[in-house]
Amino acid sequence: MSCKESVDLKYCCWEARAISRKTRKLEHIKYALELPDAVSPSGFGDMYLVHNALPELNRGGVDCAISFMGKQLRAPLMINAITGGHAGVLEINRGLARAAAACGIAMAVGSQRAALDDPAVRDTFAVTREENPDGLILANLSALCTPDEALEAINMIDADGIQLYLNVNQELAMREGDTDFRGVLANIRSLVQNLPVPVVVKEVGCGLARETVVALYQAGVSCIDVSGRGGTNFAAIESRRGGSGGAYLEQWGIPTAVSLLEALSTGLPLVVIASGGLRSAVDIAVALAAGASMTAMAGPFLRALQAGGTEGLAGYINDLIAGLQRVMMLTGAENLAALAGKPLVITGFTAEWLRRRGVD
Ligand code: FNR
Repeated sequence: MSCKESVDLKYCCWEARAISRKTRKLEHIKYALELPDAVSPSGFGDMYLVHNALPELNRGGVDCAISFMGKQLRAPLMINAITGGHAGVLEINRGLARAAAACGIAMAVGSQRAALDDPAVRDTFAVTREENPDGLILANLSALCTPDEALEAINMIDADGIQLYLNVNQELAMREGDTDFRGVLANIRSLVQNLPVPVVVKEVGCGLARETVVALYQAGVSCIDVSGRGGTNFAAIESRRGGSGGAYLEQWGIPTAVSLLEALSTGLPLVVIASGGLRSAVDIAVALAAGASMTAMAGPFLRALQAGGTEGLAGYINDLIAGLQRVMMLTGAENLAALAGKPLVITGFTAEWLRRRGVD
């Protein structure tokens, strides 16, 4: 069986019709593939790296390798949390994990809640560690989970770290969503203190404001993923699933470039991951030049897997890495430390937002 045939998304997506908690995973995949990215931009179009016609570099000497959470990666790039928890998505996770292993990049699994509730679907997550025994893999649960649940999720995939997601907008847009987020910050504090691996607190497409970032830091968090507006739009996905939210929820959130700059403007010693609407090697380079330590994408990787199987996805990732190296060369940056010091020009809506918020 070819890699392409082994990822039969038809089985898991287009047969998904009934709207229920059980089929939510399938519907998220189906609508993430069908729907366009957010109607509003990520803000990366407002940010420009300055061309350097005298780079004094050899293309072969441009190095974007990075050590992250104790693992060596070929590039600061991660397949962000997508799926798991239903037999129909096992082959998707297998394909994502194989591509991450082949390309030497990090990966996060989707929410492991379903496997905590039903051990029969644990294999849909465990497959990622089987396919990528030495790679960097992150567990994923809601920031409202208990320490015991987080430990179980970590052990399920021998995770190198855990993502705790904040998804108020998605829950409000969902028919069956949670609506009580009281105590979430105290819960995060307790999780950070009690878990044996690094904790990443992430959004799922609405971004993190400067005030939120400061509050997370004060709760002990040292790594955040802004996951801002401009890419996969969960309010739109939940609306297609028959959700109760209005169109205004689809417009809600902080564009990723703005959220990234707000987070970095705190000056706090945080590891910041940029995600949400990153769609090119230039977006990745701009995020890294601004000060992100890592970048991540979800929707585009899922679409590349659907279109070309594991090989197609690996080709897409390798093109992004080669593109990043080319953009680094065009700015005269021989490595990531040099890229982080390159000048950026911020224009338009993003510049105006930052000015009004008093962010330099
Ligand atoms: C997601 N995302 C996500 N995030 C999370 O923390 N837990 C999850 O279970 C999921 N599930 C999920 C399913 C699907 C189908 C997609 C496309 C995405 C959100 C994801 O990790 C990321 O934060 C956003 O998708 C923004 O990035 P992109 O897609 O714009 O690159």
